[in-house]
Amino acid sequence: MHNHSYALKHLIKDEGQQGFQVVAISSGKGGVGKSTITVNLAYALQNLGKRVLILDADLALGNVDILLDERPKYNLGDVIAGERNINEVVYTSKYGFKFIPASSGIEKLANLSRQEQLLLMSSLKEIAVDIDFMLIDTAAGIDEKVVNFCLASDRTTVITTPDPTAITDSYALARLLSKYKPTTMELGILVNMVSSIREGREIFLGMNRIFERFTGNTLEFYGCIRADKKVNESIRKRWLTIEKFPNTKFSEDVRSFAEFLLTGEVKPQKDNFWKRFFSNMVKI
Ligand SMILES: Nc1ncnc2c1ncn2[C@@H]1O[C@H](COP(=O)(O)OP(=O)(O)O)[C@@H](O)[C@H]1O
Ligand SMILES: [Mg+2]
Repeated sequence: MHNHSYALKHLIKDEGQQGFQVVAISSGKGGVGKSTITVNLAYALQNLGKRVLILDADLALGNVDILLDERPKYNLGDVIAGERNINEVVYTSKYGFKFIPASSGIEKLANLSRQEQLLLMSSLKEIAVDIDFMLIDTAAGIDEKVVNFCLASDRTTVITTPDPTAITDSYALARLLSKYKPTTMELGILVNMVSSIREGREIFLGMNRIFERFTGNTLEFYGCIRADKKVNESIRKRWLTIEKFPNTKFSEDVRSFAEFLLTGEVKPQKDNFWKRFFSNMVKI
């Protein structure tokens, strides 16, 4: 046991600064567009010359593979079990960017033994050299699994829609995250399915006003994404909206968000994502 934790510490130290930006895509309520935005954002970032890996961290409702029209055979659970190599669960989508499918492995992350953490971290180290962005499509809600992915990220994007219940739930998630938030993590709100940019801005301002009053801090505005009928049509046909319908308002807004992620300032991280994930895990 001692040996393992020593080896783990050593490995973590070795990793040093990471070369990629981790963006968690999260929300209080399901069905607000996390997965849709994640896959389209991956495409937009790739078009800007970035190498992207999506981690589907939604165990119950994970559907990145469906949106990408892929049927992956293996997942992170197989890597944790020592049965598959990390390269066998990092799939390359037909669009070029990569993804790790959802699995029960995600659920187990919080309860891994030191030895399993070690195995996972050294595997992930192998793939980290090939990516510029890791997008984490988290589950909805305010439980530990969601929160720990967010807290370890460079940027957490909390998505809401104009729906009052979505706003309430996303506000609750933002409040919870702000309670544990490391100074290195940036917390931003992205308003999806708006009818106008102005509507999105007003929703953000309303959330931020209450947030400021109760916490004394402010939320970042990550912009908004307009609603478009083409999004549903694309999903039914297993198309990527941004590829098939690049001129829709939806695609335009996703591209703006991608550009924002490239040009915006991210505080430099001293520690690697997985070190942050495993060493700062909070229990809620
Ligand atoms: N900007 C948008 N315009 C129109 N429909 C959207 C938009 N964003 C998401 N949707 C639709 O909302 C539904 C839920 O999206 P999904 O990405 O699965 O949400 P989540 O991952 O948050 O549960 C999907 O049917 C999707 O087509
Ligand atoms: Mg989803």
